[in-house]
Amino acid sequence: MQYGLTPISKLLVTENNPYNQAPAVLLYTDPAILAPWQQLHRHVLYGENAVQSTYGKDLWQCLNDNPDLSKCFNAGMASGNPVDLTVVRKYKGFKDIKTLVDVGGGIGKTLETIISSYPHIHGINYDLPHVIADAPTMPGIEHVGGSMFESVPSGDTIFIKRIMHDWNDENCLKILNNCQKALLEKGKVLISDLVLQPSGGPPQLIDMMMMVLTDGGMERTEEQWRKLLTTAGFSTINFIELLQQVWLIEAVK
Ligand SMILES: C[S@@+](CC[C@H](N)C(=O)[O-])C[C@H]1O[C@@H](n2cnc3c(N)ncnc32)[C@H](O)[C@@H]1O
Repeated sequence: MQYGLTPISKLLVTENNPYNQAPAVLLYTDPAILAPWQQLHRHVLYGENAVQSTYGKDLWQCLNDNPDLSKCFNAGMASGNPVDLTVVRKYKGFKDIKTLVDVGGGIGKTLETIISSYPHIHGINYDLPHVIADAPTMPGIEHVGGSMFESVPSGDTIFIKRIMHDWNDENCLKILNNCQKALLEKGKVLISDLVLQPSGGPPQLIDMMMMVLTDGGMERTEEQWRKLLTTAGFSTINFIELLQQVWLIEAVK
């Protein structure tokens, strides 16, 4: 009898595999990440945040206080992500960008993918200081530590992937207002996130994950995105479909 990897289990092979999902699987099955799901009822019944109910602090503070979990989280976020490759393939505006700031960019993998195809771009990877401390040196990328609720580094384009769905509208507006201040004239934000479709589907599960792991985070419909971005003062808003209900939203200052 012969044994071999199936097409699905090949996604867990780590070596030389741009689609490797093993770190993401390890993150989402980590006991520390699964424990708050046991408190989901407290969110539904009393409106409590499940991570707060479990640990007495929010997810970002938990990651700050637990270096091993933080490494696991950062690796999970950075693991083989077809969305990054699809953004590079489908978005034609990268050729005109001089400075691209990735807000909440983790350890810089998304910028690395973009800049490997567009080496003229100066990349600024911006995240919390404990995340930046784990970010490897990458050509063309400057790592900057700070909080997007305080300020955002300046550039002509700001990229924000899987960030807005971590926050409620009030906090999203604070982030977008800081982006507005940081953007050069006629600058734009590029948001990569889910756009919920009336037909439903897997994103609803991610919506539940945001409900459990974040404090007020949620997936949004196109109408909700338009309202948020218009309130933040963006004029032209374009939706570009990437894959499986993940979209790139281009909003011009
Ligand atoms: C869901 S991860 C997304 C990471 C990356 N953009 C990606 O798609 O792989 C959210 C990121 O937001 C960062 N973050 C959370 N609070 C932040 C803050 N106040 N300022 C900057 N980054 C923050 C986290 O450290 C984390 O890297």
